[in-house]
Amino acid sequence: VCSSDLLIALCIIALLPLVSAYNNGVARLPVMGWNTWCTDDICGAIDICEESLILSIAEAMVSSGMHSLGYQYILMDDCWSAQERDPTTGAITWNVDQFPSGLPAIAEKIHNLGLKFGLYTCVGTYTCKEGRPGSYGHFEEDAKAIASWGMDFVKADFCSAPSGIPPEELYHNFSAALNATGRPIVFSLCEWGVGDVLSWGHTVGNEFRVQMDHLPVWKFPPKAAGEGFGQGTGDIIEYMGYIDPVKWSQPWGILDPDFLMTLFPYTMSFTDSRTEYTFWSLWSAPLVVATDIRGMSPEKKYILMNPEVIAINQDPGVKAGYRVMNESSGAQVWIKELEESSSSSSTSSKKAMVLYNANDISTTVVHATWAQAGWPNATAVHVRNLWERQDMGVYGEEGITATLVAHDVLYILLTRQDEAERGK
Ligand code: GLA
Repeated sequence: VCSSDLLIALCIIALLPLVSAYNNGVARLPVMGWNTWCTDDICGAIDICEESLILSIAEAMVSSGMHSLGYQYILMDDCWSAQERDPTTGAITWNVDQFPSGLPAIAEKIHNLGLKFGLYTCVGTYTCKEGRPGSYGHFEEDAKAIASWGMDFVKADFCSAPSGIPPEELYHNFSAALNATGRPIVFSLCEWGVGDVLSWGHTVGNEFRVQMDHLPVWKFPPKAAGEGFGQGTGDIIEYMGYIDPVKWSQPWGILDPDFLMTLFPYTMSFTDSRTEYTFWSLWSAPLVVATDIRGMSPEKKYILMNPEVIAINQDPGVKAGYRVMNESSGAQVWIKELEESSSSSSTSSKKAMVLYNANDISTTVVHATWAQAGWPNATAVHVRNLWERQDMGVYGEEGITATLVAHDVLYILLTRQDEAERGK
């Protein structure tokens, strides 16, 4: 078909969207790790971000067994840089009081533990907190510096971004500068979901924030972006239901609903934290913990270290789970297509399902049907409880029902058993 030069050019343009995922060789699947942002404080109020803390977290990631389950990235948020660029050279550098050994030496220690190391900057002139230097006007030099320090991940925030330049262009330019260093660096966009990032984020970064900051509470009023949805865990679940995430997520183009606030002291209960992790798992979202992972309680290990729940998150298909039922009682059902099913959802044999009670007060009965899973004629479905890691048996055409307290979930793996019926 593509014979003349003009036709060839038109064909290339037409095919571009099909090959546009940001494959820079790293982070095809959701990143798993830890970030400084909310550890031991209220998310930015006090900086606990210095080399002994970072290294003790890295050691805990290995000794706890988290690393063996896939957690790998140790990430510094808006806390690591010196307050000013070097007055003579304009170079960005780390805060020497917090990092007396220097970031390259710390990177080496982290790499020697088998882990990866990353940091934060901003595509604007200043960062969001305390006006540290942003990278605008310095994309090439900063990218080279960051690569030379041995960094594996860069998050780019959006504060003090220059007006008049579309976010897509700013992020594209920084992304190109990072790629030009030759070092494979995960690029994480943090522009809070503005400027239609869902449609282009995957072309310039490995992951892109879809919303304003996730605060460690269930409900919080909306701020700026996020289409009027709030900033708590329950708000973000509603926002993800609204944007229909399966339309946007893909390998190397991962939707980021922000950090996990697992068991944040006083404000995140066990139920809220387990539901949070359930949805982040279901959406193929980055699993980046923003609370302390040293000396974890059994409850915290239970939530963060379940290999079956992690396996659903890391499914190679990278299809985000999406909402298929939303009742006024709070009863919701969500479904995730797994890799095995990605070629033809109607004939798949395995899917993950969440039965969820979004009601803030009342216990609710949630009934899910196999039609909601895309199997209208199923007569036998094997159900495994992913959190309990126990088989629940084979369920017939009636589907499955759970009685759930406020905010709770039943997270299950479905395996269709009536092979002869498949596809009907
Ligand atoms: C913004 C980002 C947060 C965090 C802070 C740091 O609010 O959205 O994730 O990085 O800045 O200042």
